[in-house]
Amino acid sequence: MNGDWPYPRHIAHRGAGKLAPENTLAAFRHGASFGYRMFEFDVKLSGDGKPVLMHDATLDRTTSGHGRVDALTLGEIAALDAGSWHSPAFAGEPVPTLAAIARYTQANGYLVNIEIKPVPGDEYRTGAAVALDALSLWKGAAVPPLLSSFSEVALEAARLAASGLPRALLLDKLPADWLDRLRRLDCVALDSNHRELDADVIAAAHAAGFKVLCYTVNDPSRAQDLLSWGLDGLITDAVDQIAPQP
Ligand code: G3P
Ligand code: MG
Repeated sequence: MNGDWPYPRHIAHRGAGKLAPENTLAAFRHGASFGYRMFEFDVKLSGDGKPVLMHDATLDRTTSGHGRVDALTLGEIAALDAGSWHSPAFAGEPVPTLAAIARYTQANGYLVNIEIKPVPGDEYRTGAAVALDALSLWKGAAVPPLLSSFSEVALEAARLAASGLPRALLLDKLPADWLDRLRRLDCVALDSNHRELDADVIAAAHAAGFKVLCYTVNDPSRAQDLLSWGLDGLITDAVDQIAPQP
């Protein structure tokens, strides 16, 4: 917790970074075992429009399935193995739904950053569907999920579907008009590649009323520098090397 910002400064990337299969419940449990209390994860829609955790547009890298995520129904995705690719200890780990993660995180008092990551061409539908689902799954929660996306179309759809859920714009490179973009989308925060940040950029965002998050910081000394400049949220794979503040 940081002043008027209800989220912790340390956020585990895709659950537990690289120590467990990304975007699975096993990863969240692993991240939590290192003291992490907030989790970033990637969400896209199955072919029948259900939000599931998956980074890539295709199933091949992180599951036993093949092809585009939206070519399969939720039932078909639920039958896949999302753990064996990582290591035998995680064989049979399922692909979680957003609903399963909402249950797990709220039962344990954890907070979330939902990255809306549409398959190409499905930006608007995904932004709206994920935001609506998040609104109902976190109804009554003391702290809402923080939504983020590289897709401005998805963020605009999320804004229209669930205006009360806070949004952050993900930017891999900061364009000259980054502040205008945040304002246009009525975002609460910039969430950029950490290489784009220095003390001046963070101060400029704060002066304009925005919080600043960044990804993916795996070097503890870089993390220290960013936090000393007033960074509000640091997304890391290195959950075993970067200790979260209590
Ligand atoms: O949410 C920040 C970060 O996760 C963006 O990059 O590719 O790991 O989803 P990526
Ligand atoms: Mg992500």
